[in-house]
Amino acid sequence: LILCLSFQPLEDWGSGNVTGSVGESGQCICHVFLPDTMFPADRVESVQISTNKLTMDVELHISKVHSAVSLVVLLEELSNLTLRLEVVESGPDKYVKLEFELLRIELREFEAIVTELKTSLNSSSPAFDSLYNEIRNMSMIVDQLESYDQSNLEVIRIEFAKLQKKLEKCRDEQDDFSNVQIGSCKHRGILKVGKPVVSQLNANLNSGYTYGGWGKDTNPLPGSENMYWYSASTDTSVRYVSVYTDYYSLIMRQAKKTYDLYATNRDWRGTGNNYIIRNNTLYYQFANPFSMAKYNMTSQTAEYRVVPKASKRFSYHYSANQNLDFAADETGLWVTYATEESKGKLVLGKIDEAAFALSEVWETSIFKQSVTNAFMICGVLYATQSVDINTEEIFYTYDTHTRQESYVSIAFEKFLDFYVNLDYNPTNQKLYMYNKGYYVSYPVKFKSA
Ligand SMILES: *[C@@H]1O[C@H](CO)[C@@H](O)[C@H](O)[C@H]1NC(C)=O
Ligand SMILES: *[C@@H]1O[C@H](CO)[C@@H](O)[C@H](O)[C@H]1NC(C)=O
Ligand SMILES: *[C@@H]1O[C@H](CO)[C@@H](O)[C@H](O)[C@H]1NC(C)=O
Ligand SMILES: *[C@@H]1O[C@H](CO)[C@@H](O)[C@H](O)[C@H]1NC(C)=O
Ligand SMILES: *[C@@H]1O[C@H](CO)[C@@H](O)[C@H](O)[C@H]1NC(C)=O
Ligand SMILES: *[C@@H]1O[C@H](CO)[C@@H](O)[C@H](O)[C@H]1NC(C)=O
Repeated sequence: LILCLSFQPLEDWGSGNVTGSVGESGQCICHVFLPDTMFPADRVESVQISTNKLTMDVELHISKVHSAVSLVVLLEELSNLTLRLEVVESGPDKYVKLEFELLRIELREFEAIVTELKTSLNSSSPAFDSLYNEIRNMSMIVDQLESYDQSNLEVIRIEFAKLQKKLEKCRDEQDDFSNVQIGSCKHRGILKVGKPVVSQLNANLNSGYTYGGWGKDTNPLPGSENMYWYSASTDTSVRYVSVYTDYYSLIMRQAKKTYDLYATNRDWRGTGNNYIIRNNTLYYQFANPFSMAKYNMTSQTAEYRVVPKASKRFSYHYSANQNLDFAADETGLWVTYATEESKGKLVLGKIDEAAFALSEVWETSIFKQSVTNAFMICGVLYATQSVDINTEEIFYTYDTHTRQESYVSIAFEKFLDFYVNLDYNPTNQKLYMYNKGYYVSYPVKFKSA
C-alpha cells in the first residue's frame, strides 16, 4: 500500500478533494488536492502594495524631518510586516501557521509609534492622517485574510478527516499483516517485510530535508501511546525534535511541542540521524564530544557518555557521521557502531538504560561501511543493504542469544533511493523509515516458532 499526498502550488489548487486509485503494482495511491480557490492571493498583494506605499510615505517623512529613533523603529516594524506578508504569499503550507494576532499587535504598535511620532514632532500634517488611514486599511485587510483563512482551514480539516479514514483503513490492513502477538518473541525472526506505506512528505514540507527520522516512542510513558515524533535537517546535524499528540496531528503538522537541542548557553546538538525515542527520551549521537547522548524530553536535559572504543571513522553506506546507531526492541535499548579494533566491522552493544552504559558487546563480521542501516528485533540484529534504486534488502542477521550470524535475503521496496533512519518499533511491530524526506512504514511478518 502506498499513500501519497500531493501538494500543489497555490495557483494550481482546484476545489479540494481526495481521490484514490490503484497503481501499477497494486498499491493504493491517494491524492489530496488541498482547496484554495478562496485564498485571497490578490488581497495579500494589495497589503504588500500598501506596505510598500507606507514605507515610501515614511521615507518621505524622513527626508522632511530628522527625527531619529522612532522612525528607525517604524521602518523596522514595516519591513518586518512586509516579511510576514511575504510568508503568507510564499506557500500554502506556511499561511496556515501565520499568527494573525501577532500581525494585529504589530499594527497596533505601529499605530502607537505613529502617534508618538506625531506628538513628538508636534505636527498636525495631513500626511499623518493618511498614515492612520493606511493603518486602518491594513488592519481591515488582515481581518479579512484571517476570516478567509479560517474558512479555508475548515475545508482542509474536513478533507484531512476523510484522508485520515483512508489512512486508518490502510493502517488496519497493515496491522493484520503481523502474525505474532505484540511483545512476544515466540517466532524465528522476519519472514518478510510488507509493502511500504508512505504517510507524507516531512513536516517541513521540503524535500531538501533528506536527513531525519520519524516514528513512535518505543516504550511510551502512560498516556503517550499515540504520540508520534519527527526530526529532520538539510544536513547530518540533529537539532530539533517535534512531538505530535497522534497520527492525525502528525499529518496535520500540528506539533504539540518542538524541542531545540541548541541554545546560546548550551550545545546539545547531535549528528548522524540514527536516533531513537524511548521513555520520552531521545537517544542520539552527540556531536561534540563524540559520545552517546540522551535528551530527556520530560526534564528537557541532556547527558552524554563516551562509548568505549567507538570510532568516528566508520559510517553507514548512505550518509556521513552515522557512527552510533540506536535501536530498541522487545528486550531494551541497543547501539551499533564500529571500532579501530574491529577494523570497521559492526559492533553491537546493549545499553543498560538505568545506568546509561553498555552492559555487553558483540562483534559481527560485516563491515559497517557496506551496511545501509540496522535495527533490532527480539535481540536479533538485522542489517540492510541496497539492491537497486527501488529495492533494499535485509542481508544479514546476528542473534545475540546464540551468537549465530546468517546471511539472508529479505527484499523490501523503498520509496526513494536512499534513507538515513530505519528502526523497528516493538509496540506495534512496524519498521519506520525516513526516506529522503518521506515518512514510510512497513509491517513485518515473522517465521513461526
Ligand atoms: C477533484 O480534483 C480533480 C483534480 O483536480 C478534478 O478534476 C475534479 O473535478 C475534482 N472533483 C471535485 C468533486 O471537486
Ligand atoms: C518581527 O517581529 C516579531 C514580533 O515583534 C519578532 O519576534 C521577529 O523577530 C521580527 N522579525 C524580524 C525579521 O525582525
Ligand atoms: C506645538 O505647536 C503649537 C502651535 O503650533 C505651539 O503653540 C506649541 O508651543 C508647540 N509645542 C511644542 C512642545 O513645541
Ligand atoms: C484601502 O484599500 C483598498 C483596497 O486595496 C483601496 O481601494 C483603498 O483606496 C484603500 N484606502 C485607503 C484609505 O488607503
Ligand atoms: C526523565 O526525566 C524525568 C523527570 O526528571 C524522570 O522521572 C525520568 O526517569 C527521566 N527518564 C529517563 C529515561 O531518564
Ligand atoms: C523507562 O520506563 C520503564 C517503564 O515503562 C521503567 O521501568 C524504566 O525504569 C524507564 N527507564 C528509565 C531509564 O527511566
